Order: sequence, then structure tokens, then C-alpha cells
Amino acid sequence: MTRAKPSPLKSLLDAPKVRAAAQALIDAVAEESAERALAPTAMAKALKDFERVRGRPLGFPLVLGGPGGGARARLADGTQILDFIGGIGVYGFGHSDPDLLETAVVAAAVDTVFQGHLMPGPEYLHLSQLLVKHAGPRIRHAWLSVSGAMANENALKMVLQKHAPADRIVAFGGNFAGRTLAMAEITDKPAFRDGLPSRGNVLYIPFYDPTDPDSTEKSVTALDAHLRRNPGRVAGMIFELIQGEGGFNTAPREFFAALMEHCREAGIAVWIDEVQTFARTGELFAFRSFGLDDYVDLVTVGKTLQGSAVLYTKAYNPKPGLVAGTYAGSTVGMAVGARIIERLEEEGYLGKEGRISVLGGRVERRFEVLRKRLPQTVGRRTGMGAMQAFVPFDGSADLVKEVLGAAFEEGLLAFSAGANPAKIRMLLPVNTTDEELEAGFTIFEKAIRRVAEARGIPC
Ligand SMILES: Cc1ncc(COP(=O)(O)O)c(C=O)c1O
Repeated sequence: MTRAKPSPLKSLLDAPKVRAAAQALIDAVAEESAERALAPTAMAKALKDFERVRGRPLGFPLVLGGPGGGARARLADGTQILDFIGGIGVYGFGHSDPDLLETAVVAAAVDTVFQGHLMPGPEYLHLSQLLVKHAGPRIRHAWLSVSGAMANENALKMVLQKHAPADRIVAFGGNFAGRTLAMAEITDKPAFRDGLPSRGNVLYIPFYDPTDPDSTEKSVTALDAHLRRNPGRVAGMIFELIQGEGGFNTAPREFFAALMEHCREAGIAVWIDEVQTFARTGELFAFRSFGLDDYVDLVTVGKTLQGSAVLYTKAYNPKPGLVAGTYAGSTVGMAVGARIIERLEEEGYLGKEGRISVLGGRVERRFEVLRKRLPQTVGRRTGMGAMQAFVPFDGSADLVKEVLGAAFEEGLLAFSAGANPAKIRMLLPVNTTDEELEAGFTIFEKAIRRVAEARGIPC
């Protein structure tokens, strides 16, 4: 196993001169940016400019400002909102975390802004070693990249090269793998590949259905049927252990283990997509939370990592030339990603009793209070740790959108996930406080009541 050494930035960060200068810069930026709130007309213009340049409006009418703090973001117009979605899972420690800002400032001052694979810095090595160290005994290698989709592309190529000429991938219904052409095809959402050509090499099987006692058997049977109908043509199966975009659906360990066992018997790759689950389920990797270490051939990570990577066993190490690319990531992203992993470990966030699991328990309890108060308009909760979702009303997309809009007006940002039912999705900062959680759920309640009243639906 690769041993992770101390961060290359640590001695720099420990140098009193560097630390004082970093702190002075962070303080000065916070002070100055707090004084630069946009007036309402300037804010409206900025939103219009976004719409013009992107060809469509922003999902929510907001522009980030600074400084925030924890789950509270400060917007460019000076207003504060509670952020329960963190840029869809990017801001793992919330906003303006002092330690991460310090790491970022020092990393930014070292040499180059971005790092290429050809001339990497020590941050690249440190992050790669940390990831491999935490990924269990089977995983030997890491290849860095800049987005979850790119990590998945690299994983797909490794799987296909090893199993050539097999060219088919098994995926769960409802899965999401990213937005490149290949990932759009694996993703089970036709609207996300509207107008795009398909190679027709993705074979779907049903995800776990908690209401069906035969669910595991049905999915295993579907996998076996694909293997039988495509002899020698199936290269691997992609697993999202908690479906992110699909609505935070998950399954018991036995469900995944049964399928992985069949993958193993068939000699096809077990590829786990942890782009969204990374650092959210109680362990760094959800497959370790589920105790599936023995099966994993490749795993992809992103979002909270501040970059992305595919991690893989020796058997999947590709031939030279298959994966490369100019960028490995930004120096700041690598340094902060590594610092996030170190802090999760050092500050007790991981493990069954760790702070992420405790946060999950707090959300569960607070959610039950909400459900008791609004028994007719709040449905099922799903998720784990710092990734949680629930169904408002009947789970129609329109009502979810209305609740999210009302919540935003009341000062809380969350997002949607899934369809039939659609859900309200939370990717909470792992350090969300009791006070922030309470304030957020109070707003959810207000927002649901507002929508119910407007629609004449009893609560
Ligand atoms: C499970 C999963 N895989 C892949 C991706 C793609 O990541 P990115 O948007 O960074 O390309 C996402 C993003 O939401 C994801 O949730």
C-alpha cells in the first residue's frame, strides 16, 4: 500500500511568516469584500448578464460573494443564505472555512495555478497517495483529473481496454454518471442526451426497490440475462451505491454484494462511482461504509475532493497513452482536497460514531419532527450522513420546484433530485451545526406551508 506522507504544504503553513501573511490576506479580502455588496440594480444586472452569456438564466437568482461561514453563504448583494446544497456537493466544509482558506492561499502562492500531468508538483503526489491509502488494500493507483465525468471517462477506458473486445457496460436504472457523450449514454436520463448519438452499449438493470422483497433476485436475474445474451461482450458494471441525481436511493449491502459476486464470477469489472458519495456517508468511500472492499476494481471520486480521480487495482492499470490529458487539477484544489481528507480523519468525521454519521442521525431526528408537523405533505426520507433527501407533497417535479423556490425566498438553498417521486436534496457541509440545521428545517416547514396554502393542499 502507498503510504501518505505529511502534506508538502505543512512546513510552509507552519512557518510563522507564511501563516501571518496568509491570515492577513484572508482577513483583508474578507473585510474588503464585505464592503462591496452589490446594490439591487447591480445585482439584477449581474443576473441578466449571466443569462445573456450562458444563454439561459441561473437555476437560482444568486451570485456568491464572501465571506460566508459554515453553512451560511454570503451573496454578492450582501444577503446571507443557508446553503444546504454546497454547489451540488462541492463545499464539503461550507463557506470560508478558515483552515481551508489558509491552505488555499498558501498553495496558490507556491508556483503554478494549475498542474499538468507532465510537470506535477508535490501536492499531486500527496493527494494521490492519500486517496490510495484510504481506498483499501485492493486499490493501488490513482489518476487525477478535473471533473467527475472525466474520472468516469478514464475509468470506462480502463475497463474497456482490459476487457477488449468486450464493449458493453451494465448500469442501474436511474443512475447518473456525468455529461460527456459516453457518460450521457450510461446515465439513465434520456433528456440529458436529447439529440446525441448513442453507441447502444449500455445494459440497464433495475435498482433496489425497498417495497419489493424479490428486488435483489430480480436485479441479479436481469444482470445474468444480460451476461447470457451478450457472451464475451460485457466489460463491467458501474455502481452508484447511493444514487445522487436519481434521488438518493440506496440498498442494503446484500443487494450490492449479490450483484458484485455475479460480476466477479463473470469476470467483469466492478466500477464504483463515488463522485457524489465521496466523504459523505461516514467513511471517505461509501463502498467502505457498505463493507464492499473485496469487490472493487475501480472507484471514481470528485466534488468534495475539489478535483477528481479514478482509483484502480493493479489489474486495471492501463497501457501508456490511454489516459493522460493536460490538466491534473489546480494546485489549490489538490492542496485543499488533501487537507479535507486529512481533517475528516483528524477531526473525527469518519467511522460509525464519527461526526458525519452523527450529522446523519441529527438530520433524521429533525426530519421526523418536520414529518410530525406536516404529516400530509412530507413523505419519505432517504440518504445517509451528509447526503439526505425527502419527498414533499406527492413528489411531483412542479411542487418540488415550488418548495425550493419558496425556501430560497425564505433564505435557504437546497436542490432537487430524482423523479417519480422528485425529492428535495441536501448535500450538507459535514460541519453543519445544530443551529444551522434547525434554522434550515424551520425554513423547509415555512416553505412547504406556503406552497400548501397557495395550492389549497392540507398540511
Ligand atoms: C454520481 C456522479 N457521477 C458523476 C458525476 C459527474 O461529475 P461532474 O459534474 O464533476 O463531471 C456526478 C455529478 O453530479 C455524479 O453525481
